[in-house]
Amino acid sequence: MKSFDIKTKIFFGDNALDRLSEIPYKRVLVITDPFIAKGPMISMITNPLKKAGIEFDIFFDVVPDAPVEKIIVGVKKFLEYQPEAIVAVGGGSAIDSSKSIREFSLKISHYADVGLIAIPTTSGTGSEVTSFAVVNDTQAQIKYPLVAESLTPDEAILDAELVKSVPPSITADTGMDVLTHAMEAYVSTNHNEFSAALSEKAVEICGVFLLRAYLDGNDTHARQKMHVASCLAGLSFNSASLGLNHGMAHQLGAQFHIPHGRANAMLLPHIIEFNTGINMGSRSQKEYHPCVKRYSTLAHILGLSSYNKVMSVRSLVNWIEFMLKEMKIPTRISEIGTITVDEYMSKVSVMADAALADGCTPTNPREVTKEDVMKIYQQLW
Ligand SMILES: NC(=O)c1ccc[n+]([C@@H]2O[C@H](COP(=O)([O-])OP(=O)(O)OC[C@H]3O[C@@H](n4cnc5c(N)ncnc54)[C@H](O)[C@@H]3O)[C@@H](O)[C@H]2O)c1
Ligand SMILES: [Fe+2]
Repeated sequence: MKSFDIKTKIFFGDNALDRLSEIPYKRVLVITDPFIAKGPMISMITNPLKKAGIEFDIFFDVVPDAPVEKIIVGVKKFLEYQPEAIVAVGGGSAIDSSKSIREFSLKISHYADVGLIAIPTTSGTGSEVTSFAVVNDTQAQIKYPLVAESLTPDEAILDAELVKSVPPSITADTGMDVLTHAMEAYVSTNHNEFSAALSEKAVEICGVFLLRAYLDGNDTHARQKMHVASCLAGLSFNSASLGLNHGMAHQLGAQFHIPHGRANAMLLPHIIEFNTGINMGSRSQKEYHPCVKRYSTLAHILGLSSYNKVMSVRSLVNWIEFMLKEMKIPTRISEIGTITVDEYMSKVSVMADAALADGCTPTNPREVTKEDVMKIYQQLW
């Protein structure tokens, strides 16, 4: 038996932030990062709260990739302030930190339920609607996805005004995260008709609007579309889960601090080639893995379909490589410039072990061995 539900109520469209003056809470803790807390954007959050007479405090100690030690500081703040709800404002790092802070605070205190309102300021993770929170154990150098229904936000507010300030490189990285979520969920062993419909729409939007949002951050229409696509892809993988791409990307983030979306983007062509068994050097096969058909459907949605499915998958890989080049995302680790070959290669084995143990990997369409994972990491150099 399968089931599908959307736990999070989603507010979107023009003036979506007005919802903040209607929320059913009197005392909230805003959790965000220093860039947002100290910039002009924070007033877009605090003004409606003030207007509605809602008391608030701001915890702005969020840093990228939700390290466990910062979550502990957040839990202390939460227990001191005792809010009725958390308002998480920021990219995936702020939203995942907020999810974890609420979860751990409720576990160690005898407190009734506490609301969580997620307000993304990047169009990327879809974390505003998922039961995932990725945390970073900085000592063990491993990023873990925590997965629990109780992590899912109660409300999400999608207001594209908040993403206009995202610079091109972060628009590129986070936009490729959206595309990776949609594609991995689409071919996941857990895919279903509901998740597929959400992925197809998200891929279609990325095909038309990601480059537009990258080239002109003030293109409101493109920003709005990508903001919705991010949420659609989040809903999709919340149901279908992800795959090896994310399992491997988490390790590149933990070991080398490569931004999450960038790591996914760099891996995506390699993972499609691995999953389908189609690469530049491969010869025709009698039978292809069933995921070839699913990837070729995505190629069709992007207007890339060819006279046969294998060629369509090739076109898909070429298009992704084109997107990376257009958006100045490195295609190889060596292009990043700050990581030496010895440093990188010395971590390949440990990253492969962690990728195989990652919670995202089991739903990859093709079974994978440590040797396979090591080979993909090596190719990425
Ligand atoms: N929970 C999930 O379902 C899920 C899914 C995918 C990824 N993740 C996790 O989310 C994290 C990545 O999130 P992210 O890609 O959104 O990046 P992020 O939250 O780490 O933010 C990246 C940078 O963008 C800046 N930023 C955010 N909003 C901005 C704005 N409006 N204008 C200008 N700058 C802005 C931040 O200050 C930060 O410096 C990773 O830890 C990743 O593992 C979680
Ligand atoms: Fe992601």
